[in-house]
Amino acid sequence: MIIAIDGPAGAGKSTVAKILAQKLNFLYLDTGSMYRALTLKAIEEAIDIKDTTRLIQMARTSRLDLMNNPDGSMKVVLDDKDVSLCIREPRITRLVSDLAKIKEIREVMLGLQRKLGRQRDSVLDGRDIGTVVFPDADKKFYIDADFKERVTRRYKELKDLGQDVTPEAIEADLKNRDTKDSTREFAPLKKADDAVYIDTTDSTIEEVVEKVKSYINLNG
Ligand code: CDP
Repeated sequence: MIIAIDGPAGAGKSTVAKILAQKLNFLYLDTGSMYRALTLKAIEEAIDIKDTTRLIQMARTSRLDLMNNPDGSMKVVLDDKDVSLCIREPRITRLVSDLAKIKEIREVMLGLQRKLGRQRDSVLDGRDIGTVVFPDADKKFYIDADFKERVTRRYKELKDLGQDVTPEAIEADLKNRDTKDSTREFAPLKKADDAVYIDTTDSTIEEVVEKVKSYINLNG
């Protein structure tokens, strides 16, 4: 079984996807972490984010693996190195949408995402899961929230991670990525026609998880 959860940054989709996967005993795959890991490698190898040829070459020759920690969180391993934490840093977030718009890189990730997702019952979260990666997913959700609320949530999340961020910087980042992710040519952020739309602005995480669960009939 495949459950696809898409939506913009800060809407709470990763948190919901993670809790849901734990409750259902499914594999949780955070596909954004893959684009983040490649962005980290590009920075470490001093590859210019506009140097598409080198970025594609890098993506094709990288070894990327996603696993679930016992607490349900994602472990992201790039070329045998655990990069789970550092891929959340602002220097990655600033550039990731520029790398994620490259068609050939998306093709490499698509293959990997399908392979990982087919291993087990899985919950995948991202931008194009219901539209491109698993258009035949058993259940699809599009998780959204008002822009201001998304800024507040992301600010709190990064503060809790110990990052030195400001609400203004978060606002600029979300605006930038919302625009780039939804207007790119290949696999843009978009609600699949058959996805359930959930506005989480006034809901707690628990309420959203319960709502999503209510749409999933594990017996049918
Ligand atoms: O966690 P957050 O919502 O900030 O973003 P993410 O899920 O970690 O994704 C980071 C970036 O990767 C997004 O802004 C997109 O540019 C890209 N992405 C994508 O293009 N396709 C996906 N399926 C997932 C992420």
